[in-house]
Amino acid sequence: MKPLSKVAENVTPSPIREMFNKAIGMKDVVSFTVGEPDFNTPDNIVKAAVTALENGEHHYTPNAGILPLRQAICRVTNASHGLSYCPENQVIVTAGGMEALMLTMMTLLDPGDEFILGDPCWTNYSRQILMCSAQPRFIGVTAENNFTFDPDALEAAITDKTKGFIINSPANPTGGIASRSALEKIAEIAVKHDLYVISDEVYSRLVYDDNDVCSIAALPGMAERTMIINSFSKTYAMTGWRVGYAVGPAHIIGNMVKLQENVAACVNSAAQYGALAALEDSQKAVEDMVRTYAARRELCIKEFSTIPGLHCFAPQGTFYLFVDISGSGMSAGEFAGDLLEKEKVIVVPGNAFGSESDRYVRLSFATSEDTIREGAARIRRYMTKRMN
Ligand SMILES: Cc1ncc(COP(=O)(O)O)c(C=O)c1O
Repeated sequence: MKPLSKVAENVTPSPIREMFNKAIGMKDVVSFTVGEPDFNTPDNIVKAAVTALENGEHHYTPNAGILPLRQAICRVTNASHGLSYCPENQVIVTAGGMEALMLTMMTLLDPGDEFILGDPCWTNYSRQILMCSAQPRFIGVTAENNFTFDPDALEAAITDKTKGFIINSPANPTGGIASRSALEKIAEIAVKHDLYVISDEVYSRLVYDDNDVCSIAALPGMAERTMIINSFSKTYAMTGWRVGYAVGPAHIIGNMVKLQENVAACVNSAAQYGALAALEDSQKAVEDMVRTYAARRELCIKEFSTIPGLHCFAPQGTFYLFVDISGSGMSAGEFAGDLLEKEKVIVVPGNAFGSESDRYVRLSFATSEDTIREGAARIRRYMTKRMN
């Protein structure tokens, strides 16, 4: 038989799956791997989707999404960013933030182009870039910079093939938030080298300790070259609904709408009505969820920062704890495998997020306080034995 496409063969499964597979069939496992809210979607959103179905919303919608949802997205984005995006031609509703990212990359990238990513970063970015036959280029980012690009390192990585870079703030897997001053320097580089920027803001509402989240799109000269990616998944506990969006320059969005016609036609129509209710109704459910994450974060910091041999970065946003395990003397893969075998705790090894991040593991605290306590006790026991 003829070979399959190189693109399909080049995309490898994420190491996160490997950890799940190893745990299959094990009993009494404590899992810190899940990258999604452990809450159900708020009732008002569910009811709005059910009502839409009862009212006969059973058909294709415009490729860009229903107009009231695009209007609501622009209202919310314009209010938070101080910008003036137009619902008619500067927003597209997508199947999660993931499809917004994919359509953006398909619109920006030609084969051979390069796109710069932080190491660590969310696993799917590099795979999506490879799916466009383009090349991800990684730059190490460190806790000293809140895991944001060092401007000098970013500039040094730019070649004549570089099309742009991704800013993810707050970031998965680190929980770091890019400061306004760092973003100002990064924005200057984007303008100087005429680069596109993808600003992945899917965790922008999950923020702690009054940390300020600034969007690079709002900085001078940036709206015309920045694609804002956002999603209902994390903020409204709607991962399974698959609704996200991209907001940006009309000529980029116009091309994405054209691609959408050939990929999915549109997002599930009832889910779009649910998303509309999410933006238009009271935000109390979100505030309650964020308060719960904040308490779990405090608990995680308290528990994990006193475990011998571990060092954790206090996350400024998201529901992830990024822990430096180099004190264990093991690579992240060895640590995660051994911890699962000896204590039945699953964590995600940092090399899932970039080759330079092999001394970290990621723990998700989108789980109960009891699970956090039990998992921390097991990891403490494991590390105490290892350090003695
Ligand atoms: C950084 C980041 N961006 C985008 C996404 C995409 O999420 P969704 O497609 O569910 O909106 C995720 C999901 O884990 C993520 O962590």
